[in-house]
Amino acid sequence: MARWILSLSVLSCCWMMVSASSAPTCYNGSDTLQWYMDAIGETPCATYQRLRQICNDNYTTPTWAIDTPTDQCDDPLSTCCCNSIAWSIRMLCINCEWDEFGVGDPGHSAGAGAYYNYRWSTGVPNNGIYCGDGHNQTLPETLQQAVCDRGIRLGDFLYNIFWPDGSWYAHSRASFVSS
Ligand SMILES: *[C@@H]1O[C@H](CO)[C@@H](O)[C@H](O)[C@H]1NC(C)=O
Ligand SMILES: *[C@@H]1O[C@H](CO)[C@@H](O)[C@H](O)[C@H]1NC(C)=O
Ligand SMILES: *[C@@H]1O[C@H](CO)[C@@H](O)[C@H](O)[C@H]1NC(C)=O
Repeated sequence: MARWILSLSVLSCCWMMVSASSAPTCYNGSDTLQWYMDAIGETPCATYQRLRQICNDNYTTPTWAIDTPTDQCDDPLSTCCCNSIAWSIRMLCINCEWDEFGVGDPGHSAGAGAYYNYRWSTGVPNNGIYCGDGHNQTLPETLQQAVCDRGIRLGDFLYNIFWPDGSWYAHSRASFVSS
């Protein structure tokens, strides 16, 4: 259970909370992402929605049925999703929505190249619009400022999580809590 005990600090600029708009909830009864909710005050699906809404007011995090296709970075202004921080929050959201087995769930990871595919509007390389190489482990200054202005809390650990091959590992959640 220790892996769920989170000691994380958040950016000091971002303590102000704005009421969460409606975003999908975690799987009914799921508490796997409780550490995130305790630390941030909302689900990762809500954080992801608020981050993307900076660029696209219309964005709402979809409700993803387990093991069905998810989403891509496809907003006309893609800065908000074209970064490893949005990608990680989205993966946490998937782990929250698909948590049918609770804390015993091995989690939902993504293979090498998945982050690259996400940066294509269709989810398929060389098909649709590529948001670009994006930003890894950092946000462009103007976006970071907008995040703070809106009181969106992004945990420090989100800036640390990164796999250069574009994968994402749920089993490394333990490393979130120590980062
Ligand atoms: C969630 O689970 C509880 C208890 O298992 C049940 O009573 C409730 O109806 C469920 N809610 C939804 C939205 O499925
Ligand atoms: C948001 O929705 C409005 C109304 O449907 C539309 O005019 C606008 O283009 C949409 N914006 C984006 C970024 O999709
Ligand atoms: C960020 O990492 C991805 C995935 O490994 C890579 O494709 C991309 O070029 C990197 N972006 C930058 C700006 O280095």
